[in-house]
Amino acid sequence: MKYDVQLCEIVRRAEIADDTYDFTVQAPAFAAVAKPGQFAHIYVPGRTLRRPISICDIDRENGTLRFVFQIRGAGTADLANFEVGDTLDILAPLGRGFTVDPEKKALFVGGGIGVPPLLGAAKYYGQNATVAIGFRDKNHVILAEDFKAAGCDVRVATDDGSFGHHGLVVDLIRDVRPDILCACGPMVMLRAVAAFAKENNIRCEISLEERMACGIGACLGCAVELYDENGEIYMGHVCKDGPVFAAERVVL
Ligand SMILES: Cc1cc2nc3c(=O)[nH]c(=O)nc-3n(C[C@H](O)[C@H](O)[C@H](O)COP(=O)(O)OP(=O)(O)OC[C@H]3O[C@@H](n4cnc5c(N)ncnc54)[C@H](O)[C@@H]3O)c2cc1C
Ligand code: FES
Repeated sequence: MKYDVQLCEIVRRAEIADDTYDFTVQAPAFAAVAKPGQFAHIYVPGRTLRRPISICDIDRENGTLRFVFQIRGAGTADLANFEVGDTLDILAPLGRGFTVDPEKKALFVGGGIGVPPLLGAAKYYGQNATVAIGFRDKNHVILAEDFKAAGCDVRVATDDGSFGHHGLVVDLIRDVRPDILCACGPMVMLRAVAAFAKENNIRCEISLEERMACGIGACLGCAVELYDENGEIYMGHVCKDGPVFAAERVVL
């Protein structure tokens, strides 16, 4: 299956942090083919454009997908009002996800609502993964227990020091030398992480966020500057060419 639209029933719903919701939907056809780091485009009734939300976790056995999202505006506020038993109109699975090679050692670095897309990939690595995640404060810490349950070495930072390390998430990764580094979060964090990876010759993949309309490469609404093989800059599209890119390909 390339991508498809399906009505998916919400089978689990929780508020897991301030303004942050965790939905599990029944979606066996999507769960069978989705890859960690891909995203879904979710229709919110009354809103013209679908909202892109990363696939946080994939349970192939039970045929479910998990989404974790934060209220940022009207669309995500409406989405948060959906209840167990309601159906969501979902276009998925979209984009290119993270490379997964569980024989290797991986480092996952996430900031805020950039953390959810990392969980599915980190689960493949289990004890071979170090996970460094940063949040505003302790009321916004999410998914740390899920990464721990998967066997990952989890390190948490908060901006105000109310949980874990007081400071930046990049402070937590200086001693780690993985084979691959996967990151998602604010651009300032992605720049620092990509620089660290380059200095230490570590393969690095970053997941980008960009405003989207169609989500399938048809409207050119999510353009991003990329380098081609010759180092020339061209315009690519986050929805189709990403959201996960090799860091050295992105004009950061
Ligand atoms: C590939 C991808 C994966 C994402 N995964 C997650 C996730 O797992 N969890 C999560 O909480 N958020 C995620 N986001 C961000 C999420 O899409 C926006 O927060 C959401 O679309 C905001 O919609 P709104 O109606 O609440 O806000 P409004 O500001 O009212 O939205 C207005 C328009 O701008 C778009 N828009 C606003 N902010 C963003 C943004 N940051 N990125 C893209 N479009 C935006 C909306 O889709 C909408 O079309 C992801 C974004 C992308 C591109
Ligand atoms: S959102 Fe239309 S091309 Fe990416």
